[in-house]
Amino acid sequence: MSKNITWEKTINKLSGVKQPRDSDAMQQIRKKISDHCNDFMLERGPNIPVPGIDVIPASSKFLDFDDLNILIDSCLDLWLTEGRYADNFTNELKRYLDIEHIALTVSGSSANLLALTALTSPYLEKKILPGSEVITVAAGFPTTVFPIIQNGLIPVFVDIDLNTYNVNVNYIEDAITSKTRGIMLAHTLGNPFNLKVVKEICDKYDLYLIEDCCDALGSTFNDKHVGTFGDFATLSFYPAHHITTGEGGAVWTNNTELSKIVESYRDWGRDCYCKTGMNNTCGKRFGWELGSLPFGYDHKFIYSHVGYNMKMTDMQAALGFSQMKKIERFVIQRRNNFNYLKNVLISKKLDNFFTFAEECDGAKASWFGFIMTLKSEANIDRTNLTKFLEANKIVTRLLFAGNLTRQPALNGVNYKIASPLTITDKVMNDCFWVGVWPGLDEKHMDYIADTIERYIKEEAKIS
Ligand SMILES: Cc1ncc(COP(=O)(O)O)c(C=O)c1O
Repeated sequence: MSKNITWEKTINKLSGVKQPRDSDAMQQIRKKISDHCNDFMLERGPNIPVPGIDVIPASSKFLDFDDLNILIDSCLDLWLTEGRYADNFTNELKRYLDIEHIALTVSGSSANLLALTALTSPYLEKKILPGSEVITVAAGFPTTVFPIIQNGLIPVFVDIDLNTYNVNVNYIEDAITSKTRGIMLAHTLGNPFNLKVVKEICDKYDLYLIEDCCDALGSTFNDKHVGTFGDFATLSFYPAHHITTGEGGAVWTNNTELSKIVESYRDWGRDCYCKTGMNNTCGKRFGWELGSLPFGYDHKFIYSHVGYNMKMTDMQAALGFSQMKKIERFVIQRRNNFNYLKNVLISKKLDNFFTFAEECDGAKASWFGFIMTLKSEANIDRTNLTKFLEANKIVTRLLFAGNLTRQPALNGVNYKIASPLTITDKVMNDCFWVGVWPGLDEKHMDYIADTIERYIKEEAKIS
């Protein structure tokens, strides 16, 4: 790892909210602290696992000199809440995704909750009312679906497709009833679902679309970023994801009305939209008369939604800003690792035993992991295979909740199954995934492929 001080140039270019300026002495101390950060990172080393010796995580953060420097720099600001780094992280995300509005938040789960809750706002002409139905899938991460339940709505599950691990679009129209108001789906493990068909259905039946892009930063469909097709999209910055802020997430939309509503829900439900540390952005702080409050009641304390506080700190945003500088490289490395591993497994004829993931027409995945499902005729037990991989220091993961309707959390919950969840069950029983994150390269992929082959030939004794 070479000593890298590009962050200094970056910091000098930062724009954003008014924060106190450093004295010259303070700037010199910042510089000294930064030198210590660089020494620390040199001592720490790149933290890349050695195949066969170290554990190969299924997902992990990838942090360098710039990340630590910017994180510490934001701490030294002692500003703490959303500030100059939040501004800059937001702008980077907007530029990269080519979007209008994005709100930083505390997690991907919160981003999903905020997005769906915003669509129930009493101020929306087309608000989603309690008891309405939202179409989704049961194979995936629970907090793509939980906001539907948390808002008093009914999740309607349709089956997935085995090759893409995404919604089988052929089942969606049959699942639509007079109560259907939206579709909420994740791009599974970074693989874009068929946005062409899903969007056409949303337009035809006037349904909202929420794209959970928590595992899919950098994935595109017809050369546009996923998340730019629906009404809302969400991201997670938990360390497993494409970029990290520790805990963290974001929700975005190109619709100005929806963006104001989502920010209100995120910021305690307030009507005022001043940034942290600002006053009177609307120009009539003491000139409003809302609800049955007296005229002139301070706008800062007027609440138009039953909201939360789900704001990000400036330290988290600083890390996100620094991570965004590397996003293009991360996406390429994830795709390279995925394609390389798939080719090696096919060259070993292991496609006789597994179904590997495929992209649908127009989709280009920024893969979160390499997912594979044992073919029934392979007669191999998934648990024994994954135990063998773990014993050989390869971490494996399932497709999160498997079939969500079989989870204890769904006991007693009002949901509907609109098509038999046959493939969802197949995936629950027979799939697993391994890592392709940017700290891994061809030697890790070779080790993973060799170990899978070894299990099949030596342990399961199939030739
Ligand atoms: C598809 C999907 N949605 C939402 C989440 C939740 O994100 P977070 O852990 O930041 O709450 C995850 C987490 O991995 C996820 O994979």
